[in-house]
Amino acid sequence: MKVELAPLPYAKDALAPFVSAHTLDVHYEKHHKGYARELAELVRGKPEEKLSLEQLVRDSTGDVFDNAAQVWNHDFYWRSMKPGGGGEPAAGPLRDLLASSFGSVADMKQRLAEAAGSRFGSGWAWVISDQSGRLRVESTPNAENPLQREYTPLLTVDVWEHAYYLDYQNERARYVRGFLDHLLDWDFLAANLERVGLLGRRAPSS
Ligand code: FE2
Repeated sequence: MKVELAPLPYAKDALAPFVSAHTLDVHYEKHHKGYARELAELVRGKPEEKLSLEQLVRDSTGDVFDNAAQVWNHDFYWRSMKPGGGGEPAAGPLRDLLASSFGSVADMKQRLAEAAGSRFGSGWAWVISDQSGRLRVESTPNAENPLQREYTPLLTVDVWEHAYYLDYQNERARYVRGFLDHLLDWDFLAANLERVGLLGRRAPSS
């Protein structure tokens, strides 16, 4: 396995003021790349070197797991956001699915805010689908990932302090509100639901 990070899907100042260019620079260049570098060193010359990143997230333990999962989780987090995101998805199948799963889009966002806010210490808040295809919101500590329990990750919010401390200091709730109201990429969520067959293919836009 060659540990290679995808580039950020937008410019580093594209998410400001909700996530500043400074935070994105430190988060990607120092933290995300740091996990990738550490993982490459840990698996070099070992059997794990032949496994994919997802296999390492599912099956490894200890330092290899921690770094592999942090590489995977951050890539998923970058793609869970976009400039001009947030708010609510337009009327259509995604909105209908979220309403039938959570009561309403606002209820889903509220659950995600609560999962992110109540996670003690470092971790991640997720929208996932379980083995029966039911949508749920949950959080995981440290580097843990829903793939470990055979759940399908659909969207994530990083709630490690390094994700928000430069911009918001200890006010995690304000950072999460900025994510939900201005950054959340509904198209990424919809694409992940389509990939696992939980949402019908959308007609291509003309
Ligand atoms: Fe992070």
